[in-house]
Amino acid sequence: MAEPIERHPGKQVETVEAAAAPAVKSASPLWKWLDDRTGIDEMMHVALDEPIPGGARYAYIFGSGLLFVFLSQIITGTFLALYYVPSADHAHTTVAYITKEVAAGSFLRSLHVYGASAMVIIALLHICQTFLYGSFKGRREVLWLSGCVLFALVLGMAFTGYLLPWDMKAYFATAVGTNVPSELPVFGNAIKEVMRGGPELGTLTISRFFVAHVFFIPGLMILFVGAHLMLMRKARPAGPVSEDPFNPKLPTEPFYPRQVVKDLTLALLLILILGGLAFFYPAALGPEANPADTQFLPRPEWYYRSLFQWLKYWHGGAVVIGIGVIPAIVALLFVLIPFLDRKSERRPWRRPLSVGIFGCILIGIVVLEIQSYHDDAHDPAIAQQLALQEKQAEDYMKEPFKAEVVGAQAAAAASNNAPAAPAADSAEITKGQQVFTSHACNACHGDAGAGTPIAPKIAGIGQKYNPDQLLNLFNHPTAKMDKGGMPHFQFTTDDVKAIEAYLDAQH
Ligand code: HEC
Repeated sequence: MAEPIERHPGKQVETVEAAAAPAVKSASPLWKWLDDRTGIDEMMHVALDEPIPGGARYAYIFGSGLLFVFLSQIITGTFLALYYVPSADHAHTTVAYITKEVAAGSFLRSLHVYGASAMVIIALLHICQTFLYGSFKGRREVLWLSGCVLFALVLGMAFTGYLLPWDMKAYFATAVGTNVPSELPVFGNAIKEVMRGGPELGTLTISRFFVAHVFFIPGLMILFVGAHLMLMRKARPAGPVSEDPFNPKLPTEPFYPRQVVKDLTLALLLILILGGLAFFYPAALGPEANPADTQFLPRPEWYYRSLFQWLKYWHGGAVVIGIGVIPAIVALLFVLIPFLDRKSERRPWRRPLSVGIFGCILIGIVVLEIQSYHDDAHDPAIAQQLALQEKQAEDYMKEPFKAEVVGAQAAAAASNNAPAAPAADSAEITKGQQVFTSHACNACHGDAGAGTPIAPKIAGIGQKYNPDQLLNLFNHPTAKMDKGGMPHFQFTTDDVKAIEAYLDAQH
């Protein structure tokens, strides 16, 4: 226990404890009771009275903004996990169920989807602020390193989360993403197979990505957020660019109340923006992944677009340099910033070299990003296919939710010839029969789709494909169908539903 320090003998006695006492001390007996048992007064003091050199500023709000969105992602993610089933058979259906059936499901899922983009944007702002202010200087190397780890984890969360809905774009973007390392020599293929859980994307991939997305990476994130905050408190806030990074001289202001209000302003803004987006522009879910579709053009989420564009420029032997060496150098430069830019000068205009290199790399990334969207928009064939894909996702969103028909259930319903199965109405069956005969399906598939040596039995096809999948099959026939001479039919969703109703009635 420190001896009381005599400041003005005979007048006032100040102890270290007294100086550390929180500004507001509640006199309520309940509070005192709680404080005696938990030390909550001291905790509040530690949490809220952190001195900020030079006073509160809007420039410092991004870190707590990240923490806020991270918490929101945990809450919305937990909700999604209540319904989600991580397997190739059920992932898409369960996400469709969340989107189309669960009360406020689409809203909460959209919050999670937009929240992911918000994480990346705010992380970039936080990094730029820290870099430009030189806030990494003055024994803050480990603090910077822990931030680098956190940024990598945020990108990892975005990558692993993208696959989980198992719709067309999720599937193909992840197929491309996991294929990238396979271009590297020696370990390339092994890395790809570890990511996928085998040579192809399937339930094992979903399971891996799910575990990474829900347990592994968030666990590490919580650990590193804790470390990052602790290191920040140890190093103290760096203050404005004029402040000495080692021995701060400016008068300080406590974190509470003015910085807290500034931080909360960002939180409120985020609630309004994310809530508004999620409400007015719900995140889309496309049709279920169909690996056989060879037309689909994979495109990653916006934050991976620059990398996606970058990969286009490297072919053959140069690939190793393009996807291995150069990104590794950039990442290393980034991680080593506090070891390279060592002078205690913090003002960005006095650090032309490091700010120049940082700026060039940032501009390069933005240019690649823009180039990627520009290329897509200016190639008519690509633009048309991308528009079609978007349209298919929109159409899928409008369709009512359809539960999976479990094989055994459907068979039982059919064999009992019980009308228990939701009997398609006879008008639909008649329409289906018309479509079937007018397109001469029977020429190959036999009367009532019973099957012939040329083409297989398709009566009861509903057990194998739902109407979406059937429509997709007609739009993108398999090689066998093409070889067997099956014409390419341009059916509407209604036609396909009718055909399916008819064929199921023949089963
Ligand atoms: C010229 C012959 C021919 C015609 C006409 C034809 N098909 Fe086919 N169909 C095939 C062949 C061949 C296959 C592929 C069989 C295979 O995958 O082994 C096939 C496959 C299918 C399949 C997939 C079956 C499965 O189990 O995966 C469906 C569904 C189908 N056809 C529906 C139709 C419908 C509906 C029509 C009429 C609108 C039609 N076909 C007209 C030859 C034809």
